[in-house]
Amino acid sequence: MNNSPIPLVDLKAQYAALHADIDAAIARVIANTSFIMGPEVRAFEEAFAVFCQAHYAVGVSSGTAAIELTLRALGIGPGDEVITTPFTFIATAEAISAAGATPVFADIDPATYNLHPVAVEAAITPRTRALLPVHLYGQPADMPALTAIAQGYGLALIEDAAQAHGAEIAGRRVGSLGHAACFSFYPGKNLGAYGDGGAVTTDDEALAGRLRKLRDHGRVSKYVHDEIGYGHRLDALQAAILAAKLPHLNAANAARRRLAERYCDLLAETDLILPFVPDGVAPVWHLFVVRTPRRDDLLARLREQGIEAGIHYPLPLHLQPAYTSLGLGPGSFPVTEAAARQVLSLPLFPEMTDEQQERVAAALIEGM
Ligand SMILES: Cc1ncc(COP(=O)(O)O)c(C=O)c1O
Repeated sequence: MNNSPIPLVDLKAQYAALHADIDAAIARVIANTSFIMGPEVRAFEEAFAVFCQAHYAVGVSSGTAAIELTLRALGIGPGDEVITTPFTFIATAEAISAAGATPVFADIDPATYNLHPVAVEAAITPRTRALLPVHLYGQPADMPALTAIAQGYGLALIEDAAQAHGAEIAGRRVGSLGHAACFSFYPGKNLGAYGDGGAVTTDDEALAGRLRKLRDHGRVSKYVHDEIGYGHRLDALQAAILAAKLPHLNAANAARRRLAERYCDLLAETDLILPFVPDGVAPVWHLFVVRTPRRDDLLARLREQGIEAGIHYPLPLHLQPAYTSLGLGPGSFPVTEAAARQVLSLPLFPEMTDEQQERVAAALIEGM
């Protein structure tokens, strides 16, 4: 029996498949010594905007920077509230705090783990300036309902698309569904750099221009800066690597989709709660997450067999020590808190073999 470890994500397998293109991109940047901004960054931005069905993409240094810069560029800061989910990676809220604004949490939909529009509307106050839904695990949030709320209350709608490059609702890609969308190219993401990276997409030309200025020290010419900005540019080396990987992203997302469907077949007879996908939604399966009250036992069993599963996320943001200042105790967001106790992310990456997937399913079935 094959007992070799199965990782949650296998970046070595991805490099093995694409190494010729990636090596050539790295060699080109080094030969040109054009490390900061320049043609590599521009070319990637143009290609990524097209991929997202958006007019503009602005490369930045991380997904966290993408959110902070977008809020700053929209003039959102101290005294303002931004509504988001407590069931996400901390960067979503951290970027709101870094911009000087206050994160206000709303509970999630238990079926999709994404923000519940009814909870969002209930959280609106006179200080609310923006909604910041996360497309968690690669599945778009309920953007039609959130768009209606944002329009009704005159709020900005910013997508946290860090986990959802290429996901769609009714044929429209994330990155084109709000005023702006923030992407991360952290190495394990569906489109990952070889270090940190991020981007903002938007159809708003003025917003794109403001973002380009803010990411580069508020610069208007070489040594003239008309506002205090940031050193949050996307590295040319990362842009070249991302541009080499982008043409393969649709195929990689299709491979994830096939594996997700296969997991659903293999696990159909178990009592695990499988992912729910609403009509018209095409997720990109950044993570394949099942739910069970026996999560901790199953996680231990998988680990014993060398299978790396994960929990995204075990501690909701309102219960993080960093956010005690918000004064939100246990019980504030019961749907999120229950999900945090029960979700389990199974290994899924485009290069995963059928045999690896069968081993994961067999380990879960044995453990039922
Ligand atoms: C939902 C979400 N938002 C924001 C981020 C922050 O992105 P980065 O790590 O590139 O700063 C991440 C990932 O790391 C994420 O998963």
